[in-house]
Amino acid sequence: MFRKALISFFILGPVFICSAQQSGVDTPGLKDVYRNYFTIGVAVSPRALKTDEAGLILRQFGSLTAENAMKMGPVHPGEQEYNWAGADSIASFARQHGLKLRGHTLCWHNQTPEWFFKDGAGLTVSKELLLSRLKEHITTVVGRYKGMIYAWDVVNEAISDKADEVYRNSLFYQICGEEYIERAFEYAHAADPEALLFYNDYNETNPVKRRKIIDMIRKLKAKGVPVHGVGLQGHWSIYEPTPPQLDETLRDFVSLGINIQITELDISVYHKDEVASPYTEDMEARQTAQYKNCFKAFRKYGKEISAVTFWNISDRSSWLDNFPVRGRKNYPLLFDKDLKPKKAFYAVTSF
Ligand code: XIL
Repeated sequence: MFRKALISFFILGPVFICSAQQSGVDTPGLKDVYRNYFTIGVAVSPRALKTDEAGLILRQFGSLTAENAMKMGPVHPGEQEYNWAGADSIASFARQHGLKLRGHTLCWHNQTPEWFFKDGAGLTVSKELLLSRLKEHITTVVGRYKGMIYAWDVVNEAISDKADEVYRNSLFYQICGEEYIERAFEYAHAADPEALLFYNDYNETNPVKRRKIIDMIRKLKAKGVPVHGVGLQGHWSIYEPTPPQLDETLRDFVSLGINIQITELDISVYHKDEVASPYTEDMEARQTAQYKNCFKAFRKYGKEISAVTFWNISDRSSWLDNFPVRGRKNYPLLFDKDLKPKKAFYAVTSF
């Protein structure tokens, strides 16, 4: 025991050891509380794993997702150039500490580098060239982490938010039509037949968008495309979804008969475009109630949901700081800026 502490001290430094107290040693970790329901994960940057947040991660979470480090932009910045440093460091942390690892993401309209859509003459690529690049990318990335990543978000956000449009009018869609979606799943499946392959999207509680996601997945399944799961991002707020909306959402996805994961959970304390204002007790109370309701629903569908992943670790910093409203700090997670459990943490761990 002492030897282990000594080794931790020298490898991770005194900060790491202090963090055990900050993260609430007196309370069981999220991953332990939910052991019989689903895996609890968190999205991380390579940097976070070198700070006191590492202690919190090990105590509370059973799985990691790379917040950005495995996306096409960071990993594949040039046609002949792969940059593995960040992605590898997350994978090796997961392996070293026995955490599960989700892959995010292989095909997304955002964070795809410009070169991907341009040919040698600087013109928009042909469908053939785009698909062969996609195949090369997916085969290389999935192949590298074969046996380490148990589930991949293969296609991310391909459905449109506009009521009168089915597919998002991205460059992938403009160049390939909907075919790129099934090809991406096929390439990923060929590269690692054991990995669970997910379609991942947001605004999934909106009935119109939800219907389109479900119809697309049914269509893919009917064609024999290897889609094994659906990821509901879960970027929600203290105002929505309501318990009936969430229940209906989960019930609808369950009807697909495939794996369900909540892949990017956070609960914003603002309406989407609301101007910045202080984080009040009232907001915190609403957030606590929202988290409580969400986890109650997740437990209800615990047989169908295999993992719930938070999008970032603590309110110290999250992707919702400055987004979508510049200069607005957000407080969307279960741990505060000092990594202490918030009221919402106790609300989801005592039931
Ligand atoms: C976000 C990251 O958190 C940010 O750091 C980055 O600047 C943009 O992407 N849906 C997704 C995630 O699938 O990949 C996004 O992550 C958040 C929305």
